[in-house]
Amino acid sequence: MPRHFLFLLSSARRGGNTETLARRAAAALPARVGQDWRDLNSPGLPAFRDRRHGDHYDPPEPAAQALLTATEVATDLVFVCPLYWYGLPAPAKLYLDHWSHWMRLGTGFREGMAGKRIWLVMTHSGSRPEEIAPAVDCLRHSASYMKAAFMGTLLGFANAPGEILADAAALAAADRFFTA
Ligand SMILES: Cc1cc2nc3c(=O)[nH]c(=O)nc-3n(C[C@H](O)[C@H](O)[C@H](O)COP(=O)(O)O)c2cc1C
Repeated sequence: MPRHFLFLLSSARRGGNTETLARRAAAALPARVGQDWRDLNSPGLPAFRDRRHGDHYDPPEPAAQALLTATEVATDLVFVCPLYWYGLPAPAKLYLDHWSHWMRLGTGFREGMAGKRIWLVMTHSGSRPEEIAPAVDCLRHSASYMKAAFMGTLLGFANAPGEILADAAALAAADRFFTA
């Protein structure tokens, strides 16, 4: 099956450190690998409503349906996430919450997630490993729940836009992140 990567930007600013690091990693992908870049902020997903018990889920709204389709056709999902308050940025977390809706549409979303590869590109501004671990574990456990493979984290240290270019270790890791 041809590989197709879906990059899910979630920073509250465009062109920031995390996107720069993810684009550096993506540049190492062979040309035959498809790339789809989406900003989870724009268009944003609607608020998630829990309708699991005694209610029903309507078909997703257009922005959510577009993201659902993009997710279904991807072999690889790349969460591009700055560390925000020791967790994933809200748009990335909201996207995960919507999986709970999409799983209940009867369209095979959950079965389709099994076997996909999930990656995390993250930057932070000086948190300790134990402060970063909860964000990574959120994605690792979510992937496991869906029987998807969590492939690992590309971590960079930066704060102001552009500072990631000074993290030589992160840039070197980016060059081999998807291809090692
Ligand atoms: C709302 C918010 C919360 C943040 N929380 C943390 C944090 O918990 N730990 C940390 O090391 N950096 C934190 N940061 C700093 C960002 O992770 C850092 O600036 C990162 O490089 C931003 O990535 P970007 O340029 O892709 O947006 C926070 C930044 C913002 C705006």
